Amino acid sequence: MRDRSLRLLREVRVSVADDSCLFSRNSQSEWSLISQRRGPIINKTLINRQFEMLQNKTAFITGGTKGIGYGIAESLIKEGMKVAITGRNAQSVAKAASALGAPDQVIGIDADVRDLAAQERAIQYVLDQWGQLDVAIANAGVGHFASIEELTSEQWNQVIDVNLTGVFNTTKASLNSLKASKGYLMTIASLAGTNFFARGAAYNASKFGLVGYTQAVMLDVRHHGVKVTTIMPGSVATNFNGRIPSDADAWKIQAEDIGQIVVDLLKMNPRTLPSKVEVRPSMPPKK
Ligand SMILES: NC(=O)c1ccc[n+]([C@@H]2O[C@H](COP(=O)([O-])OP(=O)(O)OC[C@H]3O[C@@H](n4cnc5c(N)ncnc54)[C@H](OP(=O)(O)O)[C@@H]3O)[C@@H](O)[C@H]2O)c1
Repeated sequence: MRDRSLRLLREVRVSVADDSCLFSRNSQSEWSLISQRRGPIINKTLINRQFEMLQNKTAFITGGTKGIGYGIAESLIKEGMKVAITGRNAQSVAKAASALGAPDQVIGIDADVRDLAAQERAIQYVLDQWGQLDVAIANAGVGHFASIEELTSEQWNQVIDVNLTGVFNTTKASLNSLKASKGYLMTIASLAGTNFFARGAAYNASKFGLVGYTQAVMLDVRHHGVKVTTIMPGSVATNFNGRIPSDADAWKIQAEDIGQIVVDLLKMNPRTLPSKVEVRPSMPPKK
C-alpha cells in the first residue's frame, strides 16, 4: 500500500530539522531535486541555554538596602537565585538582608562602591560562600541637584565617585568572575543619561558618562561571553535623594518593575543582547 502511494507521487518534500528539499518525478520515474530551502541558522547550544533556569545562579547587587537594588534582589530571589546586596552601613545592610526573608539565598555586605579594595573583598566573599558569580548589578547611586553656581566640589565629587567611578570599581572587582561564569553585568544609569536638564550638571554628567562607559565595556567583553546592559529608568518610586515614596508616586515605575526587567534580560536568549534599555512611566502626570 505504501509502495503504491509512493508510485503515484509526483512530488515529495523531504525535511531534515529546518531544512527541506522538494523532489519531482519525471515521466521516466526519475526523481530530481527542484528546490531546496534552508531553515534559519540556529545554534542549538544557545537555544538550549535560553531555557536555563535562574535557580541557584548568584548575583551581586550594589546598593541593595532599599529602592531599585532591593526591588531587583526581591525579583531574583523569587527566581531561586542567591543574592548578595551591599550598602555603606553594616546595620542597614543587615536589616535589608533580613527583610528579604530568604536567609539561605541572601548575603548582606557593607562595602562602599567608592573603594575598589572593598568591592574586591565583597566579591571574594561571594565566591567563598557560593563558588561563583553569575550576575553583577552596579546599581548604587546618589544625586545632588543644583545649578552650576550652587553645586559644590564636594557634591560634584560624590556624584561622580559613586555613580561613575563606583561602577568602574564594581566592574573591575567582578569581571574575572563574570568571564569565568560567562555571566552578566548590568548598570543602572537613568534617562538622565540621555536627557539633560537644568540643575542636573553633576547627575547628568555621571549618567551620560555611565551610558557611554557601559556600552564601551559591552564591546570589550562580549567575545568573552559576558553580556553587558545598561538600564535607563525614568522616575522610580524609591528613597532616591531623601524622598519617601507615597501613594502620590503610584504613577511612577516601581522598583519591582526594574526587577522584572532584570529577570527578563537574564532569560533572554544569549544570542541577543538588549544593550541599552530605556524605561519610563507609561502615563506620567501631564505638565
Ligand atoms: N529613583 C529614580 O527615579 C531613579 C531613576 C533613574 C535611575 N536611578 C538610579 O537607580 C540607582 C538606585 O537608586 P534608587 O532610586 O534605588 O535610590 P535609593 O532608594 O536612594 O537607593 C540607593 C542605594 O544605593 C546605596 N548607596 C549609595 N551610595 C553608596 C555607596 N557609596 N556605596 C554603596 N552603596 C551606596 C544605598 O545604600 P545605603 O544608603 O544603605 O548606603 C541604597 O541602597 C541609582 O544609581 C540612581 O541613580 C534612580
